[in-house]
Amino acid sequence: MVHSLEGKVAIVTGGSGGIGSATCRVLAERGAAVVVADIAAERAEALAGELKAAGGRAVAVALDLGEEASVKAMFAATLKAYGRLDIIDNNAALLTPEMAQRDLDIGRMETDVWDAVFRVNVRGAMLCCREALAIMEGQRSGVIINTASNLALQGNVIQAAYSASKAAIIQMTRSIATSHGHLGIRCNAVLPGLTGSRSALEHLPPRLLEIVREETLTPYLGDPMDIAHTVAFLASDEARYITGQAIAADGGTSVHIPGYARLRELFSGE
Ligand SMILES: NC(=O)c1ccc[n+]([C@@H]2O[C@H](COP(=O)([O-])OP(=O)(O)OC[C@H]3O[C@@H](n4cnc5c(N)ncnc54)[C@H](O)[C@@H]3O)[C@@H](O)[C@H]2O)c1
Repeated sequence: MVHSLEGKVAIVTGGSGGIGSATCRVLAERGAAVVVADIAAERAEALAGELKAAGGRAVAVALDLGEEASVKAMFAATLKAYGRLDIIDNNAALLTPEMAQRDLDIGRMETDVWDAVFRVNVRGAMLCCREALAIMEGQRSGVIINTASNLALQGNVIQAAYSASKAAIIQMTRSIATSHGHLGIRCNAVLPGLTGSRSALEHLPPRLLEIVREETLTPYLGDPMDIAHTVAFLASDEARYITGQAIAADGGTSVHIPGYARLRELFSGE
């Protein structure tokens, strides 16, 4: 077992979701005390109970990223429980079935959809970064990991608000890395491709899943553990020279021209 995070304190927002719960499990296995923060408070409690039963250290905190007071309360609860903060994984995002149906293209964008997505995904993550920095500045150390998406890099016919919100996350990541690196604080963004999390598998049309499979360069689609391991690496001291980066864990979907991977059929000689 790897104990690369022994003694560290980590918050995971959206910690009871697909990627978030996998991340909480990996961080706890590696020795971190984990704050499982989620709007789904019961699920967060259940996961914190599971982590403790497995011998880890964990607390659950009810969090609504849309509410500044709730964000501040999460940091207060973290300090009360553990007295410090070493890692925050800003993983939560607004991914409800309603948003999946209403976040379409800009031509059809309803203002309340845009505002709701930005309120949680961008403003919420900014509040978490700001409050985390206030603690980490005093400690002169800390790691922030923000969750973007490969959709931050590529156009899509739908999810225009979501994609723009994730692009904003990448730029915020670079800003923080630049302004706070000298204080011993690192900030990176992880860009998941499609992973088999609950929200991805339940709400996406089967045809879309087929297309993603065709464009993924690895012979398999990723799952939440692939993102959790990337986060755990970025959180560890092994990644101490990596900051300001947007690191895709997407099976290579974002690095090639769609359709071109299949051109190998033309040149394989078969
Ligand atoms: N799964 C994928 O294919 C994929 C691809 C690219 C990026 N991502 C990103 O990875 C992250 C995790 O996604 P996931 O697939 O695990 O989704 P998920 O829906 O399983 O998890 C999201 C979690 O965020 C929580 N949440 C939502 N609104 C909140 C709020 N206002 N305050 C606090 N918590 C809130 C939800 O309760 C949920 O537990 C997201 O940032 C998502 O955009 C996922």
